[in-house]
Amino acid sequence: MYNAVEIITAKRNAVALSAGQITWMVDAYTSGEVSDEQFSALAMAIYFRGLNDDELLALTTAMLNSGTRLNFSDLGKPTADKHSTGGVGDKITLPLTPLVASYGVAVPQLSGRGLGHTGGTLDKLEAIKGFEVDLTEAHIRSQLTEIGGVICAPTGELAPADKKIYALRDVTATVDSLPLIASSIMSKKLAEGTDTLVLDVKTGSGAFMQNEDDARQLAATMVWLGKEFGVNTTAVLTRMDSPLGYTVGNGIEVQETLEVLAGGGPNDVVELTLTLARHMLQGAGIDADPAEHLANGKAMDTWRAMVSAQHGDPDAPLPTTTHEHTVLAPTSGVLSKLDARAVGEAAWHLGAGRQYQGQAVQATAGIRLHAKPGDTVTAGEPLFSLFTETPERFAAAEQILQHATDTADVFNPPQLIADVIR
Ligand code: URA
Repeated sequence: MYNAVEIITAKRNAVALSAGQITWMVDAYTSGEVSDEQFSALAMAIYFRGLNDDELLALTTAMLNSGTRLNFSDLGKPTADKHSTGGVGDKITLPLTPLVASYGVAVPQLSGRGLGHTGGTLDKLEAIKGFEVDLTEAHIRSQLTEIGGVICAPTGELAPADKKIYALRDVTATVDSLPLIASSIMSKKLAEGTDTLVLDVKTGSGAFMQNEDDARQLAATMVWLGKEFGVNTTAVLTRMDSPLGYTVGNGIEVQETLEVLAGGGPNDVVELTLTLARHMLQGAGIDADPAEHLANGKAMDTWRAMVSAQHGDPDAPLPTTTHEHTVLAPTSGVLSKLDARAVGEAAWHLGAGRQYQGQAVQATAGIRLHAKPGDTVTAGEPLFSLFTETPERFAAAEQILQHATDTADVFNPPQLIADVIR
């Protein structure tokens, strides 16, 4: 009935595709009937011609329907989920999940591992002794009922069409297309089946969408898509020019999470955790100030219950390494640049991230920042502490960090939260 060449030709010539054509193309590509060559031609045509709203909806629906769709409507609790487009030092899922869960919301955070300069939530959690990320659906449900929060790997196959299409886009220069990104992210998040979704869309040097207008447009498109599927969706546009918090790595980011859950922690991590928590609670119909449960220990109690339920030991010390190297500030002044991408890449070189899928990461590798943009630094004083099990990697990491910073006479860092899109 449908023909791949006709569909590619239509999109190439800027003719809108029907929902039937898009659904067929996605299904036929997922099953292997349409070839990589044909789907990559379509992806390139979409890259240049874009998609109208109906086409975008049809593409997202087809990708969503390609796999399992979870349904938590029988839990008897409101459900909320957060997605970040990825950043350096972005450990927010860790304090946010138990915080929101401590208010009686079910928060199923199906998370990923790191690849490239941004870290993976699961890699961070695995720094905790015994912590398990591969759970059965029955375990997830019972943990959501008993405790409210769970952070684990996806069960089953959520949006397998996206997995195949994303891998193809990666090698055909078609990743940075707004409709392809929006449908890719939303097909996976909608498959998780929550009532409320809060998107943290990053912009800046460490973000995937570096330009703020592009990030805003992506956020608005994903909010529109979420609402079309009946999910209460909000996007928070946040700056990712410098890393979040003072730590980048795995175990070291869990340590900082514990500081936040104990009522302290870096201002930016606390601000973003509370902002996202407020939107999740609002979406779940709960009128509360989440700062209360950071201050009174209830979020920490939920964290400890969550870690124990996933077979982790909340009292075990986090792993550390004896290999430490200090990088000193080259100049004095006010820190005006602390490039997130460079810090992420340096942490990756130290062993906090992986070069290929399946590679083991070092729980102890990472970077501690001694200053943040707007702080005064003095030449010769420590700027970064580097940690790794493989000290021969210090030189490469230090080299990357040489271009990561700048100083000025005066510098006022921009607001972390650039906008909220509903
Ligand atoms: N993340 C995704 O999941 N998909 C994209 O297309 C880009 C980023």
